[in-house]
Amino acid sequence: MDGHTVAYSRSVITELMVPSYANFGGKVHGGTLMSLMDKLAYVCASKHAGNYCVTVSVDNVQFLRPVEVGEVVSLMGSVNYVGKKSLVVGIKGVAENLQDGVSKHTNTCYFTMVAKGTDGDTAEVPPLILESEDDVRRFCSALQRRRIREEGLAFMNEYKGKFQLDEGSRALLATERCILGMPQA
Ligand SMILES: CC(C)(COP(=O)(O)OP(=O)(O)OC[C@H]1O[C@@H](n2cnc3c(N)ncnc32)[C@H](O)[C@@H]1OP(=O)(O)O)[C@@H](O)C(=O)NCCC(=O)NCCS
Repeated sequence: MDGHTVAYSRSVITELMVPSYANFGGKVHGGTLMSLMDKLAYVCASKHAGNYCVTVSVDNVQFLRPVEVGEVVSLMGSVNYVGKKSLVVGIKGVAENLQDGVSKHTNTCYFTMVAKGTDGDTAEVPPLILESEDDVRRFCSALQRRRIREEGLAFMNEYKGKFQLDEGSRALLATERCILGMPQA
């Protein structure tokens, strides 16, 4: 299977933030940005894979600054990592105020997408050709995020399975802003 460069599937979505995108506070709704980022992740992943792709998880979603109605948001996406059947698309969002020309970095996140063949089964994706040190750094960073996520999931599954409202969990909550409202055993 021939590989593709990062540049082959790099994509940008640019959209004007119209009043219907606003939340009750008058800023752009986070869900609107998430929806745009999901579309962009689909474009990058499907272009690289040459197949239909589905979103399977989203990591490190960050809303760094509010986005105002009237600003123009540009989302830049590129394939950071390719596994056997999955791909990670890294996305950076920038909002520009058209009146003063000032741009701000507003979002970062990483979408894991899985390729599917025409039969509906998961499908292998072509390797990623890394042409720069930045490409290599992003690929290695995605590997580290995957390791941390898998370790975190294993830890939380064990924690949930063994959880008891015992002295240990009471001590954990002692300095937290919560009140245990259930009757003492
Ligand atoms: C995506 C999906 C087909 C994966 O199914 P699966 O049985 O786990 O598939 P596989 O075990 O073959 O794993 C395929 C790849 O997905 C990765 N993967 C599976 N679950 C994952 C998760 N939660 N997070 C990150 N990667 C995941 C695996 O690591 C594997 O990667 P690799 O091939 O690069 O090593 C299945 O979870 C699914 O259909 N999910 C719903 C997707 C969807 O509908 N998205 C739209 C949301 S509205």
